[in-house]
Amino acid sequence: MTTTQRASTPMNDQLHALLTSLDADDIRESDDRVYFEAFGKQRDVHKDFPLVLIVESSSYCNLVCVGCPHKDLTRRRGFIKWDLFTKIIDEAARYDVRTWLHFMGEPLMHPQIFDMIDYATQKNLSYFGMSTNGILLTERNRGRILDSGLTRFEISVDSLDPDLLGLLRPGGSPETIIANAHAFFEEKYARGRTHPVTSVSMRQMQENAHEVDSFVAHWKEILQPPDFVLAIAWNSWGGKEGVEHARYQAPSWRVPCLKLWNMAMVLQDGRMVTCDAMYDGQVVMGDVNEQSIHEIYNGETYRAMRQCHLDGRAADLDICNGCSDWYRELVLHDNLTAPAQQTLEEIRDVVASGKRQE
Ligand SMILES: C[S@@+](CC[C@H](N)C(=O)[O-])C[C@H]1O[C@@H](n2cnc3c(N)ncnc32)[C@H](O)[C@@H]1O
Ligand code: SF4
Ligand code: SF4
Repeated sequence: MTTTQRASTPMNDQLHALLTSLDADDIRESDDRVYFEAFGKQRDVHKDFPLVLIVESSSYCNLVCVGCPHKDLTRRRGFIKWDLFTKIIDEAARYDVRTWLHFMGEPLMHPQIFDMIDYATQKNLSYFGMSTNGILLTERNRGRILDSGLTRFEISVDSLDPDLLGLLRPGGSPETIIANAHAFFEEKYARGRTHPVTSVSMRQMQENAHEVDSFVAHWKEILQPPDFVLAIAWNSWGGKEGVEHARYQAPSWRVPCLKLWNMAMVLQDGRMVTCDAMYDGQVVMGDVNEQSIHEIYNGETYRAMRQCHLDGRAADLDICNGCSDWYRELVLHDNLTAPAQQTLEEIRDVVASGKRQE
């Protein structure tokens, strides 16, 4: 693989300096890092099944966040149907693939989300997670999450300043998001829970760059291992959203996009896509209602796209032409280190146990 170089801008350098000045176990910039640091890199390219499977439980959302293309979806919105969901989880369980229950939308809006979590628990998926915007993280729902077998949970916050949070994640009460996030951790620790491993996330944007250190310091006072702060490296959704926020600016050279070899998303209607840039189903790899994930992942459309990238012709594909997210993916994988920090050990132990602990 070609050696990567990190391109920089003044804002990126400033933010990077801030982030790297923090203790390494305070903050992560991608969940992949948590996963690979905890489990090692040996499985970072899977031969015939995605390494990460994203299941869009709901394509409805109750917020309209800056930088998220959910608001621009032209495809029909809906909740995933039960039979489709169980078909996906049955297959995911055969590979014990890392599975997330959200893509474009808010999973806690799905009326059967807790039945879905129970189903995945019964299937012994050792790593399955869900990210929420916190609006519906009510007292009842946080109790249900803490009682469930979910192994990873993420609360998206972006800022502790209600005015700024309201600008970055409009559509709901920022005070509610902040209060719900705090209440979740309070109850989790009061009940002595380690499951689910929970992160509070902040997307790295120019608007909240000044707040990174106080955000981390605040949560550091509250969070107990194995929970952590996730400072998410900006994703441009194929060049559609806020490319100016990207810390990892793509260089002039290009290598095949790792996403074609490591992930897949199943939209709520069953169509499968291979990366975030296809959030609207612009390119569809297959339909899980008709085929297995394995068949689609090894099928003609995937093979043709991969070959195009291997031949150095990625720019011939309309969807990949203006996209620089392949570089973010590459850097996040390539920069992985294996620090033997206590937090990572704890994450590994908790996640590897695969089951909730009392
Ligand atoms: C698309 S949301 C879906 C789940 C849920 N609605 C939520 O907000 O957590 C999943 C994650 O993507 C993050 N996200 C949205 N736009 C992003 C962007 N441009 N770059 C990086 N992460 C982004 C959100 O902050 C959230 O952590
Ligand atoms: S980031 Fe999550 S909460 Fe915000 S609009 Fe996108 S899907 Fe909805
Ligand atoms: S280059 Fe961009 S659009 Fe193409 S597969 Fe990779 S992430 Fe998706």
